[in-house]
Amino acid sequence: MANTRRDFIRRAGHAGGFGAAFATMQSLGLLQTIGYAASTPDLIPESGKGIKVAILGGGIAGLVSAYELGKAGFDCTVLEARDRPGGRNWTVRDGTSVEFTDGFKQTANWGPDSYFNAGPARLPSVHKGILRYCKELGVELEVEVNSSRSTYLFNESTFGGKPVEQRQAINDTRGHVSELLAKCINQNALDQELTKDDRERMLSFLRTYGDLKSNYSYTGSSRSGVAQLPGAGPQEEELREPLGLHALLDANFWNGMLFEEQLDMQATMFQPVGGMDRIPYAFAKKLGGVIQYRSVVKEIRKTETGVRIVYARGSSEKAIEADYCICALPVTLMKSIPNDFTPSVQQAITDTGYADASKVAWESKRFWETETNIYGGISFLSSGPINLVWYPSSKHFSETGVVISGYGAERNSRFGQLPDVPAKLAASREAVEKLHPGFGDQLRNPMYVYWAKIPYNQGSWVNRGAGFYSDAYKAFTEPDDRIYFAGDHCSRVGAWQEGAVGAAHRALEMMTTRIRSEQQARAEKKRAVG
Ligand code: PHE
Repeated sequence: MANTRRDFIRRAGHAGGFGAAFATMQSLGLLQTIGYAASTPDLIPESGKGIKVAILGGGIAGLVSAYELGKAGFDCTVLEARDRPGGRNWTVRDGTSVEFTDGFKQTANWGPDSYFNAGPARLPSVHKGILRYCKELGVELEVEVNSSRSTYLFNESTFGGKPVEQRQAINDTRGHVSELLAKCINQNALDQELTKDDRERMLSFLRTYGDLKSNYSYTGSSRSGVAQLPGAGPQEEELREPLGLHALLDANFWNGMLFEEQLDMQATMFQPVGGMDRIPYAFAKKLGGVIQYRSVVKEIRKTETGVRIVYARGSSEKAIEADYCICALPVTLMKSIPNDFTPSVQQAITDTGYADASKVAWESKRFWETETNIYGGISFLSSGPINLVWYPSSKHFSETGVVISGYGAERNSRFGQLPDVPAKLAASREAVEKLHPGFGDQLRNPMYVYWAKIPYNQGSWVNRGAGFYSDAYKAFTEPDDRIYFAGDHCSRVGAWQEGAVGAAHRALEMMTTRIRSEQQARAEKKRAVG
């Protein structure tokens, strides 16, 4: 669908120029600013009276479900395996223990203001669903600086192994591209494509776009940063030599350079003040005793009239009967829970694999602020094994902060092939040293979170390979009798809290629609009998 639509716009553009493409996009409704999530599920107050719902998993999907159902009077129980809410939404602070499934254990020994969002760490402004809950629950938000021109792009084998400021790579690339395109136009290579008027307007645009000289050459720009800043009295601005086009092509910076152009990565980005887990704790405060912690789901069964969930609490095994179930567990966990799911759901569970992302975080003096003028944003390394360094957006100008050096799926990555945790931590420190020579040894008290080895997650997010949407996704997004699945794996906004919110809303809508029609059918039957 997306491809066809894009194709259509492209063809409209070919036939009628930019104006036609623009009009086509407008008529397709593509130029509005839209949020992802469906609006609040419109559950009728009191409509859930007397109806029991077992909610499996206290991540965002489970919490949203319990919160909305609670408003409508349903009798909910959330079974959560851990002693905290949030699932992947997890903030590591001083004293937090991180224990892997293989027994490897770390405990954060940090200052009071230091924290690190091991899971979700940013809230795009288009994610209206999760942002609405922040507002409704009073979770204070601040800007998360997702990109900064002062951060670096780095490739070991180009530019003498020195990091390049993003402003330099971005604007010098743009200058070169503009110069080349202006040359094409001036050499009449685009006469077929451009009218005489458009030619002139295009050239004038390129001068602005690339900061070109009046002869359409690119000789550098203060946009790329300067060798010397202008100042008082005689101090004049001195431009830098532009980076050469050939070297820029060699460096292959494009992914890092264009990262912030992805819709979900664009400014303005937010984060809760004090840590992402302020969101699940705000839900938990509203839900109170509805959440049962340390309750590990052992069996998911169907009964004549509902569901029966067997779970372990400490050493005792318990069971809960309910009319409906919202199963908001990660698919990784469902793989080993005995269940009465239909064969198509069981197949979907078998077929679904998870990525194994990790993050490495360090407490450190804020040398990136004091020495290099970096206040938030992400530096990208294209020669591995560490792919990025992500600077904190909280408490700028304070003494210390938590910086992330390395974040991504490990399978098939150079980082993942490192032999052990000490080697990974060493690589993480070394990446910071490459970007900030002389400062790698400032990093202290590392915390390494590898989601594949975190109990009750065992993976970071669903791998959406070729067949996912045509097969497994269909099973997860339809009810299995009285069981409704929720979580970001039931949404096309994968690996985002927004996906979990939207999926929970959709599950509740399906469930309450069924309840309403059953209630109506019963009422009619009663009337017929009476
Ligand atoms: N939402 C996650 C993040 O912001 C994972 C993700 C990364 C999703 C990049 C889409 C694109 O890091």
